[in-house]
Amino acid sequence: MSPLLAAFLLLVSMGLTSASTVPLRPGFYAETCPEADFIVKDVMRRNMIREPRSAASVMRFQFHDCFVNGCDASVLLDDTPNMLGEKLALSNIDSLRSYEVIDEVKEELEKVCPGTVSCADIIIMAARAAVVLSGGPDWDVKLGRVDSLTASQEDSNNIMPSPRANASLLMDLFQRFNLSVKDMVALSGSHSIGQARCFSILFRLYNQSGSGRPDPAIETNYREKLDKLCPLGGDENVTGDLDATPTTFDNRYFKDLVAGRGFLNSDQTLYTFPETRKYVTLFSKNQLAFFRAFVEGMIKMGDLQSGRPGEIRSNCRMANSRPVRVLMES
Ligand code: HEM
Ligand SMILES: *[C@@H]1O[C@H](CO)[C@@H](O)[C@H](O)[C@H]1NC(C)=O
Ligand SMILES: *[C@@H]1O[C@H](CO)[C@@H](O)[C@H](O)[C@H]1NC(C)=O
Ligand SMILES: *[C@@H]1O[C@H](CO)[C@@H](O)[C@H](O)[C@H]1NC(C)=O
Ligand SMILES: *[C@@H]1O[C@H](CO)[C@@H](O)[C@H](O)[C@H]1NC(C)=O
Repeated sequence: MSPLLAAFLLLVSMGLTSASTVPLRPGFYAETCPEADFIVKDVMRRNMIREPRSAASVMRFQFHDCFVNGCDASVLLDDTPNMLGEKLALSNIDSLRSYEVIDEVKEELEKVCPGTVSCADIIIMAARAAVVLSGGPDWDVKLGRVDSLTASQEDSNNIMPSPRANASLLMDLFQRFNLSVKDMVALSGSHSIGQARCFSILFRLYNQSGSGRPDPAIETNYREKLDKLCPLGGDENVTGDLDATPTTFDNRYFKDLVAGRGFLNSDQTLYTFPETRKYVTLFSKNQLAFFRAFVEGMIKMGDLQSGRPGEIRSNCRMANSRPVRVLMES
């Protein structure tokens, strides 16, 4: 037997598949779990009634999962004694939230079609549901992803952008994932829903680029409002809305940027730089153009894959445990 075939059979015997061997496609669960879409949407709807912000928090998972070694639900893994996961990485600690909503979806799906729907696909379906249920566009999601066996805090720290980032850095980062400037600006429009902490903006309110002054791009009345919300020395966990309509997915975010009312530096900078400004202007005037570009960006981001072996986790927080006997067959 060739070593390659032996390795392949070993993976199969362990219940693992290589992500690169399974092309993503819409309707992947049409036969094996036709209820999947409905269940995801239903759980999302119930959670949004309990807490409207959960839509935004769940949608954010797609970004933080897909950018770090592909869309493989690595972001959902809890730390283990041998592995520092991504939950405590710089961009996620005290910030990424609503993991329990994904758990709830997974539990419901395991009842109806056990061992079938990957946590990675749940993130993709839940992000789409969050957008649709918030008044945004609907689209066909490609499915068939597998869940990673590990996560990497270091990779997350190295990759995920800071709220201090300027448009130049963000264009470079997204380019590394084959996401265009237009994709990047449209995907930033996800900040049409949700909130962020004072922690993420204190520097731009009081010491932008070490100047000892606020970011001059912030409109005066808005800055006074932010100063009250986030006083120097205050509670850095207090949150503010990312745009003026934080539970509605619309192009208000871009209108706010044009008016100097972006919450994060990484938001406002999109209007400051000429390369990105033209898309902010376009999306501020044309919501349909924003929706189209956003959908295209979400699909492209959802195509990011690690190509590493994976599995269908039964609990999104941990890799399935396999009998030691199987592991020793190699
Ligand atoms: C362009 C680069 C991006 C940067 C620098 C960035 C940064 C941030 C930061 C700093 C926060 C608030 C964290 C906190 O203070 O706790 C946040 C929130 C959020 N981000 Fe981004 N983000 C980016 C792109 C994206 C993308 C591509 C998506 C999804 C497609 C996304 C979805 C969200 C959502 C929905 C929230 C609100 C979450 C909630 O309310 O719980 N972001 N982002
Ligand atoms: C953008 O940010 C990067 C990294 O912080 C910095 O090196 C660069 O000078 C900034 N670019 C501009 C034009 O401000
Ligand atoms: C980006 O596209 C190039 C050329 O098609 C490809 O070789 C590369 O793997 C892609 N990168 C990512 C992160 O998908
Ligand atoms: C502002 O930032 C600069 C450089 O990062 C730093 O040297 C300075 O101490 C900061 N000033 C205040 C008031 O925090
Ligand atoms: C913010 O909240 C987290 C818990 O959610 C806590 O561990 C942290 O100390 C708080 N930070 C500040 C500055 O209060």
